[in-house]
Amino acid sequence: MSTHKEVKRITTHILQKMKDDGEKISMITAYDYSMARIFDDAGMDILLVGDSAANVMAGYETTLPITLDNMIYHAASVVRAIKRSFVTVDLPFGTYQGNSKEALASAIRIMKETSAHSVKIEGGEEILESVKRIISAGVPVMGHLGLTPQSINKFGTYAVRATEESEAQKLLNDARLLQDAGCFAIVLEKIPASLAKQVAESVRIPIIGIGAGKHVDGQVLVMHDMLGINKDFKPRFLRRYLNLYEEIKKASQAYIHDVKAKDFPNDNEQY
Ligand code: KIV
Repeated sequence: MSTHKEVKRITTHILQKMKDDGEKISMITAYDYSMARIFDDAGMDILLVGDSAANVMAGYETTLPITLDNMIYHAASVVRAIKRSFVTVDLPFGTYQGNSKEALASAIRIMKETSAHSVKIEGGEEILESVKRIISAGVPVMGHLGLTPQSINKFGTYAVRATEESEAQKLLNDARLLQDAGCFAIVLEKIPASLAKQVAESVRIPIIGIGAGKHVDGQVLVMHDMLGINKDFKPRFLRRYLNLYEEIKKASQAYIHDVKAKDFPNDNEQY
């Protein structure tokens, strides 16, 4: 199997080549300069400035409250850190559903004010006109189907989507429509692995899964989940690579102890 480790900059063409060559695509969310720098240095293919920033950075219950200005702040911070990774930015709730001109204006603000490489939009047929208009302006678009958190109030639950045949058929059709509209990739969130496999096999463009099983072209996780900063979030699809909540808590307690004990700073830690 060939890999694209030596590629200087990840582009939509490289991502397509990865799918064509059978190399899986790695993607993680990032919201700030320091973490983006580490992920980029580690060789992450895509950094997603997700509207999950509303949850993990700002503490909101849903992704709905985050604004375009907030997303631009996070995205510009991420882009300043990267050398190789491809950066995609979520269009937040309320900045593209109204009409395609509004969607384009939002995408253009993101591209101009952050220098990110693409935008991501939730939805299928309903937002197709917006997707086409943004792409026609030269902005690459990543789709997002399945569990689309901006529609949580319609779904009423974060449970697995598209388990019913009618929703599965709509999802398959939406994936083809997004591909035909020119999307360069699609995220599939929390759907049955067998359906995700069917989608990945029926479109040419890369399919990136989160809770969508192993038969897709790449995987994405929210960084706080992957690093174990969210200690109470334990969905079946999540693999934790660190237990940072406990590590940071232990380090903080050690620091508090040293300050209280007048042990920090010592003679070598002062001027
Ligand atoms: O906002 C986000 O973090 C996302 C991922 C869950 C794919 O959209």
